[in-house]
Amino acid sequence: MDPDAALVPVRHQRICLPETELDFSGSLYSVSVLKVGYCVPQSDGTFKADGTISLIRGPKTVLVDTGGSWDRDFLLRALKDRGLRPEDVQVVVGTHGHSDHIGNLSLFPAALTIVGYDVSEGDTYQPSGLAEGRVHLMDEQVSVVPTPGHTGQDVSVQVTGTSAGTVLIAGDLFESCSDEETWRKLSLNPAMQEASRQRALQSADIIIPGHGPPFRVMRS
Ligand SMILES: [Fe+2]
Repeated sequence: MDPDAALVPVRHQRICLPETELDFSGSLYSVSVLKVGYCVPQSDGTFKADGTISLIRGPKTVLVDTGGSWDRDFLLRALKDRGLRPEDVQVVVGTHGHSDHIGNLSLFPAALTIVGYDVSEGDTYQPSGLAEGRVHLMDEQVSVVPTPGHTGQDVSVQVTGTSAGTVLIAGDLFESCSDEETWRKLSLNPAMQEASRQRALQSADIIIPGHGPPFRVMRS
């Protein structure tokens, strides 16, 4: 994504994908949604929520968001079903610091850990340009992009070159495919988030939101 791109609203249509369409293959990298997040208001004023968990496989194995701590057994099982142990995950990304997204970071103590703008290995924190708006490249096709607004330090993970085009694992930059009525109430800085959303809509073909199934972006 180009951080300097003009922030004119992107004319587009969203195609909401069914919960069965969760895998986006590619010759180098593939993206799979392991768990579709949700956010369901309850009659007593509470709401049930969990964050989407996604896995990127290719030259690097990258987990993007880990769900809440209650997802521990689910996550271990989902990785095992794909022939992976926790130590096979080389990079774990928390798109932001909310508890329904980063509840299982402790399963991956040896992984490069990126949470918001913090990049660390064990207790060693590395300089990164994320706070200055710069993209953190993992390699040619996978990058971590600052997309602030929902919190002060949100990131998304962009994977280019899949058969579906560019996939953006967006955390709560987008709540769901149809989130126009909901995202602002959950946003720390709606103007900043709107700018981040428009930049995402300019470049992504598939967006994986934080609390719903993926959707396709059709620009006109
Ligand atoms: Fe959140």
